[in-house]
Formats: sequence, C-alpha cells, structure tokens
Amino acid sequence: MYYNNILETIGNTPLIKLNKVAADIPALVLAKVETFNPGHSIKDRMALKMLEDGEKRGDIKPGGTIIECTSGNTGMGLALAAVVKGYRCIFTTSDKQSKEKFDMLRALGAEVIVCPTNVEPDDPRSYYSVAERLSKEIPNSYWCNQYDNLSNSQAHYESTGPEIWKQTEGKITHLIVGVGTGGTISGTARFLKEQNPDIKIWGVDTYGSVFKKYHETGEFDEKEIYPYITEGIGEDILPKNVDFSLIDHFEKVTDKDGAIMTRRIAREEGIMLGYSCGSAMAGLIQLKDRLTKDDVVVIIFHDHGSRYVGKLYNDEWMRERGFIDEELQVKDIIAKKEEKSFLSVSHDETVRNVFNMMKDNDISQMPVMKDGEIVGSITETAVLTFMLDNPLNNTEKTIGTIMGKAFPLVQEDLPYRQLSRYIDKKIPAVIARDKAGTFHILTKYDIIHAV
Ligand SMILES: Cc1ncc(COP(=O)(O)O)c(C=O)c1O
Repeated sequence: MYYNNILETIGNTPLIKLNKVAADIPALVLAKVETFNPGHSIKDRMALKMLEDGEKRGDIKPGGTIIECTSGNTGMGLALAAVVKGYRCIFTTSDKQSKEKFDMLRALGAEVIVCPTNVEPDDPRSYYSVAERLSKEIPNSYWCNQYDNLSNSQAHYESTGPEIWKQTEGKITHLIVGVGTGGTISGTARFLKEQNPDIKIWGVDTYGSVFKKYHETGEFDEKEIYPYITEGIGEDILPKNVDFSLIDHFEKVTDKDGAIMTRRIAREEGIMLGYSCGSAMAGLIQLKDRLTKDDVVVIIFHDHGSRYVGKLYNDEWMRERGFIDEELQVKDIIAKKEEKSFLSVSHDETVRNVFNMMKDNDISQMPVMKDGEIVGSITETAVLTFMLDNPLNNTEKTIGTIMGKAFPLVQEDLPYRQLSRYIDKKIPAVIARDKAGTFHILTKYDIIHAV
C-alpha cells in the first residue's frame, strides 16, 4: 500500500494517553497529537481544505498564487499543497514568530514577508493588511484568509471531530483546545456536540487576547489587548471561525506557565511540542477540579517542538524572560550557611574526644583529616555504635581506625539538584572547595535549609 502524494498522509493522527503530566488530573487524559501530520501541525488539515474549496469555487486556477497571513503552521500546510499542486505561495507573518518557522516555509519554496507584530490589525503594515493588498494586486491569486474562511472549521468538522469520536468510541466527555483562528475548536466541537450535546468544550486563551472576556460578557474590550509571547493562540480580533456558542468556557494561561508546561511534556511524556500545546495542558490543569475519574478528556496538541528549539527549549531564552529561575548552585548553598567554619578531626584523635566534640558542637558528621588532606569521614551513628559496642575501649582507640570513606568532593558550580546523585542514606554530606581553597561541608540540613 502506498500514498499517491504527501497530501494523502494528512490526518488520522494518534490519540496518546498522558501519564506523568496528567497525574494530578482525576480523569483519563488523551492527547490528539497533531505533530504526526506531514507539515508537523494540525493546520495541514485546514490548509488543504481551504485550497481545495477555493479551487472548486474557481477562486484560484492552475499556476495561480496562494496568499495567506500565517504564523507558520498554516503556511506549512499550504506550502506542501502548493508544491504538489504547482502553485506559487506568498505568506505574510509577524515578527514575533520563530525564525525556524520562516526558514521552513522558505525551504519549501514559499516567499515570506515579515510584518511588525505590535500594530493595529487595520494598520497598512499589519500582516492582515499586507495579505489583503497583495491579493488585490496579484492576478489569479487566492487569499485563503484562515480567520474568516469557514473551510477552516469545516476541515475539523469533517476530519478531526470524527477521528476523535471514533478513537474514543464515543466516550469523550471534554475537549480542550488552544484557540487562534477558532477553526480547530469550532469545527471539532460542532461535530462532537452533534453526536453528544453534553460534551464540554473548553478553549484555551492567552493573557493579552480578547476571547475570554468577549465570551463571558459579549464586550470586545480593547483594554484586554497587549503583546504576549505565546504563539498560535489568542487574538486581537474576532475571527469568523470562532463559534462562541459551541464553547462552554475559556481559560487563560500565562506565557510562563505555557512555556514551562511545554518543556515538561517533552521531558515527562517524550512528546516534543509547540508552545500552545503547553498552554492547553496548563489550562487543563487549572481546570482539573471540574473533572471526575469517569471523564475522558481529549486535548489537542497543535504543532511540533522543532519550530521552538531556539525559543522555549533554549534555557537562555527562558531565563531572559524570567521563565526559569537561576538554578541554585553549591556555592549558593555555602553562601546561605549560617555556620561557615569547617570542623574536622585529625585521624589520630581518640574516639572519646571526637564524640565530645560532636556533642559540644551539635554536629552529626565530620571529615577526618591527615596532613591537610581529607582521608575519611565519621558520623555520629558510627561513633555511638563503636562506643556502645566497646564501652571500655574508647579512650585510646583513634578515629582513623573506625572512620568511613571520605565524603564526595563536588565542584562549587554544581547545580544543587545534582547533589541527589551523591547524598543518600549512607552519605549524609558532601565537601566543596571554594576558589580560595577553603573546604566547606554541605549536609542534608544545609541543603534543605537553603532550598
Ligand atoms: C501552534 C498553534 N496552536 C494553536 C493554533 C490555534 O488553532 P486554530 O487557529 O484552529 O484556533 C494555531 C493556529 O494558528 C497554531 O499555529
């Protein structure tokens, strides 16, 4: 069996159970992982549908030009279709989108025009206005206009919805989806609610977008609009593809929570996704108290993480935006220690003296030194055990004869989380040497106290 071209591989994506990231959610959580589409996003579905409906209506003829304003994913789907069907593609996009997205579109032969993000939609420089102007200037061109072209939501009514219904054997109780043009949520929801009107439909929105307030109050509030970092969801317009009557609730998610969750899904589920997927998941966790163990939730994951490698998967990028805290290092724990003196015992000290020293200083473990070097370690338990076992023989015996292995020596700049590789039941402390050559001991207590 083979496919006649790449476009035939669009759709029929898998539904995958989420385990670790959904651990606190009482329901069964299944992800519709749309990265399996050939353009690595759900938007392949609607791109092909918009183009084919345009062809049927005669809006574009062979050899014509496809024009679209796209953050990249719709462009990718259109570019694939254009290659197979022989069209020229011009995309207008905003400068906040990942560079990887533009490069991939150009790799497929598309022309990409990057427009400023922070201008009004009706500003002649906005990516909507530029697309509109080009569609008027270029003969035999077809501006798909994914925001208002209802072929967008129809694609999901015809494919995404039926796939989810079949894959869950009609057991789905909740659908949660990030909302941009609204095509995915509206088309999928329309199909699912026709099968079972009780299915709850939750849309995920960003701070800086108008959707939630409009849905709850009917007011288009311009004060809700401000720049945000999340890609693909939230809008400063009301696209015709958003059918607010099908959506039961909008949940807003911060840029930070979306980014952190996207990284967690990669590390905890092995599914590498784009930004809006983390937002959708973070939104679902915010809503977890509305779910019960009998619920079956489907979450749609829109696109692949490869387009975000230089962004949310890059620690530097995350840190610059305050999305990850500077990681505490061993030297930070040393700095936070109230008692900085390094107490040690000489290997030839008697067990009795060491016992008294530990008692007087209220310490549970110490390094053992010989000629300025650490040669071993002694713990309260070891000293006590020896003294109980040898009640008459603890004034003469030296600590060097009963000491244990030296505590591990770690680098000052070691991230504190990695200390768990060294410290366990048997090893209660590590030693670090600072730049001046001074030794410091870090005990379990010091670490817990600093964190
Ligand atoms: C990454 C990403 N997430 C979510 C969405 C939102 O999907 P829809 O436009 O169908 O509402 C888009 C759409 O552009 C997207 O590219």
